[in-house]
Amino acid sequence: MWSESSDRQGVVLTAPRPTPQASSNMSGFLKVEHLAKSYQTDKPVFADVSFAIDQGEFVCIIGHSGCGKTTILNVLAGLDTATAGHCFMDGREIAGPSLERGVVFQSHALMPWLTVRQNIAFAVKSRWPSWSKAQISEQVEKFVALVGLTPAIDKKPSQLSGGMKQRVGIARAFAIQPKMLLLDEPFGALDALTRGTIQDELMSIVRQTQQTVFMITHDVDEAILLADRILLMTNGQELEGGGYAPGGMAEVVVNPLPRSRTRAQLHHLDGYYELRNHIVDFLVSRAKAH
Ligand SMILES: Nc1ncnc2c1ncn2[C@@H]1O[C@H](COP(=O)(O)OP(=O)(O)OP(=O)(O)O)[C@@H](O)[C@H]1O
Ligand SMILES: [Mg+2]
Repeated sequence: MWSESSDRQGVVLTAPRPTPQASSNMSGFLKVEHLAKSYQTDKPVFADVSFAIDQGEFVCIIGHSGCGKTTILNVLAGLDTATAGHCFMDGREIAGPSLERGVVFQSHALMPWLTVRQNIAFAVKSRWPSWSKAQISEQVEKFVALVGLTPAIDKKPSQLSGGMKQRVGIARAFAIQPKMLLLDEPFGALDALTRGTIQDELMSIVRQTQQTVFMITHDVDEAILLADRILLMTNGQELEGGGYAPGGMAEVVVNPLPRSRTRAQLHHLDGYYELRNHIVDFLVSRAKAH
């Protein structure tokens, strides 16, 4: 994940290059404009996906399996290219991977020959090449502790459970303090208790640091807890009379619940059930219908 493009000392950077200007009628730190992806020309996975995310905003995307959520996240990460459309972050077109964006993959992407400490240190060193060993260790240990993995810090990924490996990925993404976090179902492999703890930690870090986050989740409650806005995506599908309708962005739901919400009181807040029902109804009856 950290080695797609490198210059001296293995530092991963996005080459600054002249880019098309983002259209001025969309605000946002991150802008996605008319994005489409096709693996087969006559059957685009999705088409004309546009949205923007403001700095410090937490946006979740929900949609059934196969609608293209990971594909969009990979394009935002600079790891995949779209068939059409453009993505901009901080005014520059996304053209490759960058340490300005921290990614947590759906299945962890750790280097199997390195320990937890070394996996995270590698990223931290790439981000801050001039840091001393002590500074790097301090940063690594802080974020390993955050995800509760201090006892496993010198273990290799093969010695960890799936949930533990996922937590290493989370710690690594946070440890480089990126301008934007891109999270692909980061808590999917975690047990309920750990999941809750890390959700709380994530919320607290994000609020403190004004972190901008784009996160994929299948968990409606998780989206309601964390997100300021929730993007609802439809799947592509064959049409009855022939032809194919690509998937796309069906709706952007603004979370009306107070930002100070916590997991414990979520269910008691005015508007919670309405919001939840709206999203569940979408998934049950509209996400696959055109
Ligand atoms: N390399 C590829 N070649 C061909 N088809 C692909 C490729 N990668 C993804 N797809 C297809 O693109 C579609 C979108 O995949 P993607 O992984 O983005 O979905 P997703 O919304 O993240 O699903 P999930 O919720 O299961 O993770 C799927 O139908 C998938 O089969
Ligand atoms: Mg996916």
